Amino acid sequence: MRARIVSTGSYSPEAVVTNADLEKLVDTNDAWIVERTGIRERRKAAPGETTSQMCTAAAREALALAGWSAEELDLIIVGTITPDYPFPSCAVLVQASLGAKRACAFDISAACAGSLFAMGLGDQLIRAGSAKKVLVLGAELLTGITDWTDRNTCVLFGDGAGAMCLEPSTDERGVLSTHLFTDGNASKILYQPGGGSAHPVSQRVVDERLATIRMEGREVYKFAVRALVEAMQTALAANGLTAADLDHVIAHQANLRIIEAVAKRLDIPMSKVWLNLEQYGNTSSASLPTTLDEANRAGMLKPGSLIGMMAIGAGMAWGSAVVRW
Ligand code: ACO
Repeated sequence: MRARIVSTGSYSPEAVVTNADLEKLVDTNDAWIVERTGIRERRKAAPGETTSQMCTAAAREALALAGWSAEELDLIIVGTITPDYPFPSCAVLVQASLGAKRACAFDISAACAGSLFAMGLGDQLIRAGSAKKVLVLGAELLTGITDWTDRNTCVLFGDGAGAMCLEPSTDERGVLSTHLFTDGNASKILYQPGGGSAHPVSQRVVDERLATIRMEGREVYKFAVRALVEAMQTALAANGLTAADLDHVIAHQANLRIIEAVAKRLDIPMSKVWLNLEQYGNTSSASLPTTLDEANRAGMLKPGSLIGMMAIGAGMAWGSAVVRW
């Protein structure tokens, strides 16, 4: 029995960082950022605000919409690369703050594809009969690992959290397929060099800002477009569908040019693609469930609608899913 997405939720911090704000930090300008990325502003967590707190806020929205209490949850999976602590996981902190006493909770590290990986795993565990009520979260506090002196990266990212509640489907609706991929040979085109076992926290890590995001933008761009197109083609073929069958596309909001290039190659009109990166930037793992929540709350996802999902991030890690709403 496949999983059905019964509800969604999201949370965005209040503080807005505009392109004009970034012009004061680095040699950049609004026109460059909008033209190359489509991003006009992004949200920044308040001082002291954590990833688990953002998750909890998004989770409460999703639980309320599902009409579930936290005690009913069997499983909490959080896709994040910016947990509150290196350990324990962000998911156990969310478990505690929600009071989800029965749930087993753990994190998944797949960067911007984290929530898609979490959804795919949640679906598989429901299909296996191992869990019935699953809370999937994607959350990121990327502004905490951003190098605010690096104009190549600091214009891209924002903070936020998104949630989905999954349970066994009783009809033809639900997650029809999930296809997940990784390529560790591309691990250095997008990574955080410091703060892990390769370069534990030290004065050098601080001085050289090694615990921040490093990115080869052009390589990421080329990889992302190719990988997402192939992943969506794989998903469509597996379900005997064509791109024209999709009613909506919910994609990781990496940047507008990547999404437009992928949609063009798949022959999907942009009118079917939900966008929110203009206001939120790239919120990594949070972006897919946040975008889904916006479309859901706008009443645009009708029962039976076919949704194509895709996400890609550091690893490289990427994937696609087809969901019948
Ligand atoms: N403002 C002004 N100029 C800038 C900025 C900026 N913020 N950033 C870079 N530049 C400059 C560069 O220094 C370079 O100057 P130079 O020619 O004097 O050397 C020039 O702009 C062109 O730089 P490129 O890197 O070639 O610019 P490009 O057209 O490739 O755009 C971008 C850069 C937007 C990062 C693009 O490569 C891209 O979209 N890559 C994908 C990255 C991405 O989406 N990452 C998100 C994380 S991964 C994910 O979520 C999938």
